[in-house]
Amino acid sequence: MKRIGILTGGGDAPGLNAVIRAAVRTAIYEYQCKVFGIQDGYDGFLMEGGIIPLGIEEVRGILARGGTILGAANRGNPFARKMLKRGKEVTVDVSAEIVKKIKRQKLDALLVLGGDGTLHIAHELCQKGVPIIGVPKTIDNDIGGTEVSFGFDTALNVATAALDRLQTTAESHHRVMVVELMGRDAGFIALNAGISGGADVILIPEIPFQFEKILAKIHERAKRGRKFSIIAVSEGAKPKDGAQIFSRKGDEIYVPRLGGVGQVVADYIEKQGFESRVTVLGHVQRGGTPTAFDRVLATRYGSAAVRLAAQGKSDCMVALNGGMITSVSLAQATARPKRIQLTDDAVIAARNIGIALGD
Ligand code: F6P
Repeated sequence: MKRIGILTGGGDAPGLNAVIRAAVRTAIYEYQCKVFGIQDGYDGFLMEGGIIPLGIEEVRGILARGGTILGAANRGNPFARKMLKRGKEVTVDVSAEIVKKIKRQKLDALLVLGGDGTLHIAHELCQKGVPIIGVPKTIDNDIGGTEVSFGFDTALNVATAALDRLQTTAESHHRVMVVELMGRDAGFIALNAGISGGADVILIPEIPFQFEKILAKIHERAKRGRKFSIIAVSEGAKPKDGAQIFSRKGDEIYVPRLGGVGQVVADYIEKQGFESRVTVLGHVQRGGTPTAFDRVLATRYGSAAVRLAAQGKSDCMVALNGGMITSVSLAQATARPKRIQLTDDAVIAARNIGIALGD
């Protein structure tokens, strides 16, 4: 192994830079290998100057920095790239061009740090002969084949800190505080932050909720003299007889954007006579410095990804299973996104301690 490339695809997540740093250092110190950074996801292969050398100097001081020094793009699917041709938007397959660029660049391996979408693309590129090792990245923690993706722990800590702060103001003002958290179709952030932040109600996409069940919990608390409640709601949560709520419809360029369920829940509660406020935590959950857990996990992932590349492995992803770093095939990792199961012990524990899950 003489030359490897690294790219970061999709939205950013805390720990991306820590993975890049670990991979570069492992590649150079252990394998005397040259490393190249591909800027703005797969787009970097198509851009003038999109491929840059990464040495020890380039990754100095980035361990604790959020975002990605390589830039990210979550619209750059090379198999269906949106382009303007004679003023009209068209979808073009530019994957062959990318494969050619990787060959010309003589990359022995490409490390792809990404979520579901980016890793799907990676798997398809592998079928075209590109040697790829995936690294699971997302705050949503919804990638299959691994217990945890890096970024999740940081988002969870940010969300927990927000719930802690909302507790005190909710109690002072006798209000119901609703906090809307990220996670798309997976409720890992809301469930875990709800448990660690002492929420009274947790609403997640995997468990369609009934408004009356939320109200029942608020009433039950009020009867005990607890005149405030905290509701952690995942952006993808939906009422039993309704649909997910979007703040923006999808179009040729953007995927639909979830958002607004927190307000819907708060409006209902206010109508029942309980003063409510909504906090939408949004991208605060994705930004800033990674937690110690994420820095360590990112370092273990980055280093393991290079070791796999050095063994000539491809079409696989580093993963954490039983606390150990393992590898799974990209086909397995992308076959089915990970979701909360009703039998998960976190769900059972939440119910056991009296948290209402809306069902
Ligand atoms: O997948 C990560 C995530 O942060 C989701 O939790 C959220 O729904 C989405 O990305 C937001 O994407 P964007 O940054 O494109 O608005």
